[in-house]
Amino acid sequence: MQAKIETVKTLLEALPFIKEFRKEIVVIKYGGSAQTSPQLKEKFAEDILLMHLVGIKPVIVHGGGKKITDMLDALSIDTKFIDGQRVTTKEVMRIAEMILSGEINKEIVSLINSYGAKAIGVSGKDAHFITAKAKDFARWGLTGNITNVKPDVVINLIDDGFVPVIAPIAAGEEMGHPGFNINADLCASYVAKAIGANKIIFLTDTEGVLNNDKELLPSLTRDEVENLKADGTIHGGMVPKVDACLEAIDGGVQKAHIIDGRLEHSMLLELFTSEGVGTQIIK
Ligand SMILES: Nc1ncnc2c1ncn2[C@@H]1O[C@H](COP(=O)(O)OP(=O)(O)OP(=O)(O)O)[C@@H](O)[C@H]1O
Ligand SMILES: [Mg+2]
Repeated sequence: MQAKIETVKTLLEALPFIKEFRKEIVVIKYGGSAQTSPQLKEKFAEDILLMHLVGIKPVIVHGGGKKITDMLDALSIDTKFIDGQRVTTKEVMRIAEMILSGEINKEIVSLINSYGAKAIGVSGKDAHFITAKAKDFARWGLTGNITNVKPDVVINLIDDGFVPVIAPIAAGEEMGHPGFNINADLCASYVAKAIGANKIIFLTDTEGVLNNDKELLPSLTRDEVENLKADGTIHGGMVPKVDACLEAIDGGVQKAHIIDGRLEHSMLLELFTSEGVGTQIIK
């Protein structure tokens, strides 16, 4: 009996947070690095289902950098990065789209559907809802900067009770354009801004942003982020992530968090407990 009372207490503790976030849109960037074991993927799907059932509106944007690199290696296609961004030749673009839209997107969609929520996979090419232009064609090829996100595609899916799962590919503006490979962190922020999300959560493979002693930094302001970037404490894949957090909060998203996707149910800990987890980026 005592155990049952504890269960009820736990549920009640979540009530104020359910009230706060009910009907709100929460964008989740599901990093490739966090999509590791089958067990973790299942916990992720459970969390999404729970959020959906209590009335929160989850929207997922996924990454997949490591899988793209693995496939390029398997096909002996050269790939390189300049300033942490992939150089996307036409051939790399084909593979990136196959892996992102074809493999990873459908895997996440199927998993969520098998748990009982209705997920739909799209990329920015669908209805051309995300458009981009080349960042610098001579250097990065088909790696793009987002020029526009049309909110209605995602909003309509949410209003119809679907969980949108977005692959970070954008449409080019000219007829017959092969499209652009876009950074998934920035894609998540641009989508979050366009659809009026309340919160954005980046699930990755570290506890959050760490200092040079590998200690977690629970809260960071813009100035602190800029200093940590300048002295190299924040580097590599963490750079676009903190930039994406700043982009989101500048665009009206209330809160941005970077949390550990390797920790079971970290999203629920962030949403439904007062302590939270990971790093919060504030203005
Ligand atoms: N100060 C820092 N604190 C924590 N991680 C950092 C820091 N600086 C750099 N990193 C690196 O950033 C990585 C997270 O970014 P990464 O791009 O690898 O993952 P992701 O964005 O979750 O996955 P994907 O790019 O596939 O979607 C960490 O694994 C770590 O190596
Ligand atoms: Mg990344």
